[in-house]
Amino acid sequence: MSDYPKLVVRPPGPKARDIVKRDSERISQSYTRYYPLVVESGHDCIVKDVDGNEYIDFNSGLACLNVGHCHPKVVKAIKSQCNKFLHYANTDFYYEQTVNLAEKLFEVTPGNFQKRVHFANSGAEALETAIKLCKWHTRKHQFIAFVGGFHGRTCGATSLTASKPTQRRNYFPLLAGITHVPYPYCYRCPFGLSYPECNYRCVDFIDDQVLQKYIPPEEVAGFVFEPIQGEGGYVVPPPDYFMRLKKLADKYGLLFIADEVQSGIGRTGRWFAIDHWKIEPDILCAAKSLASGLPLSATVSRARLMDWEGGTHASTFGGNPLACAAASAVFDVIKEEKLLENAERQGNYIIKWLADIKEEHEIVGDVRGKGLMIGVEFVKDKQSKTVGADQAREVMIRCWRRGVAIVTCGVSTLRLIPPLTITKELVDNSLEIIGDVIKEVDEDSTSG
Ligand SMILES: Cc1ncc(COP(=O)(O)O)c(C=O)c1O
Repeated sequence: MSDYPKLVVRPPGPKARDIVKRDSERISQSYTRYYPLVVESGHDCIVKDVDGNEYIDFNSGLACLNVGHCHPKVVKAIKSQCNKFLHYANTDFYYEQTVNLAEKLFEVTPGNFQKRVHFANSGAEALETAIKLCKWHTRKHQFIAFVGGFHGRTCGATSLTASKPTQRRNYFPLLAGITHVPYPYCYRCPFGLSYPECNYRCVDFIDDQVLQKYIPPEEVAGFVFEPIQGEGGYVVPPPDYFMRLKKLADKYGLLFIADEVQSGIGRTGRWFAIDHWKIEPDILCAAKSLASGLPLSATVSRARLMDWEGGTHASTFGGNPLACAAASAVFDVIKEEKLLENAERQGNYIIKWLADIKEEHEIVGDVRGKGLMIGVEFVKDKQSKTVGADQAREVMIRCWRRGVAIVTCGVSTLRLIPPLTITKELVDNSLEIIGDVIKEVDEDSTSG
């Protein structure tokens, strides 16, 4: 039986406190810091802080470490590339590492059609690429995105983003031509309806109230969506949602652009989350876990869409050879270690376990997810469904203090995203802590 987590001092310990103080005086404080976890090292599913505490990592470096911290094969691939060359502007010259990686990517991205890929460095850049590619190819400049969506922090990506006002405040005017429509958030249906009686009103609404009322559909390039909303609260659309949305897209000739930056690279037990709906997007954006923590993003599109000319779009470090070597190893590891299967197995086990304890606790409103992309939405009480932001925050902090590093998303959702390598033993150790903490917070919340 694994004996993680191992805590040697109440976090944050003295070294962590000192570094956080120095950070607070020197580093931009625009980041979203959840709690003072100051990392010293990581190994597989364990992250160690500078004071020697070892936590079970339910964050995966914010969904970037699907194959775990410092996977030996990834490290070996990076070291081997280090001895060859570190950089040589793939924007201006050639090397084989990007071509090899493209071939591996095309094998697992949905769609049995010819593809091309543009490499960049971050999720936001992958979305910028998608926006510019759509504009270039279609000569159309409007997009439909979704309330609750998160697509990054550059100006174009921020324009698509709509999950928290603070992400947009003081930044207007943003990119023109982006309209946000309701996402299928069934637990809090924006139309006050219930699935399946709703008969997908959220899709019809886009047609009869948006495209037929005020946005000329012939000016819209496409839909930009997360197959499962991440920062918006781990919201999973119902079974036929994307099939219906795709039908609508086809009716007006709109492109389907899937942002799989958080949900991709095996996170949900499929290579990409959209595979659960058996839909083939025209453009797919991947980043985060693609290179196991090294900066790399990919915008994969139908080959015919990438008809732009030399000089129209590029990024100096995009497709960096170290990152490509790491990504190439990530694909091998996921296949060799059958991590899609493990994600599905451990994920189903966690979801069932959480669904069972949901019945016992007033503050657990909803449990949802696919594979190891799991959300627990907290409420003040089940009847009113008033958001339980304090409860979610309290659960997060107490879990961390007991050795499970985990964070929230949306307004009141705890997200469970351990590496896909996680074992049943570590899952059990973590669930015991998470369960105890939820019980305590539930008792505090309902008694106070
Ligand atoms: C779905 C999604 N898209 C885009 C991004 C932006 O990625 P990055 O922070 O690498 O720019 C994120 C980051 O959390 C994300 O979750």
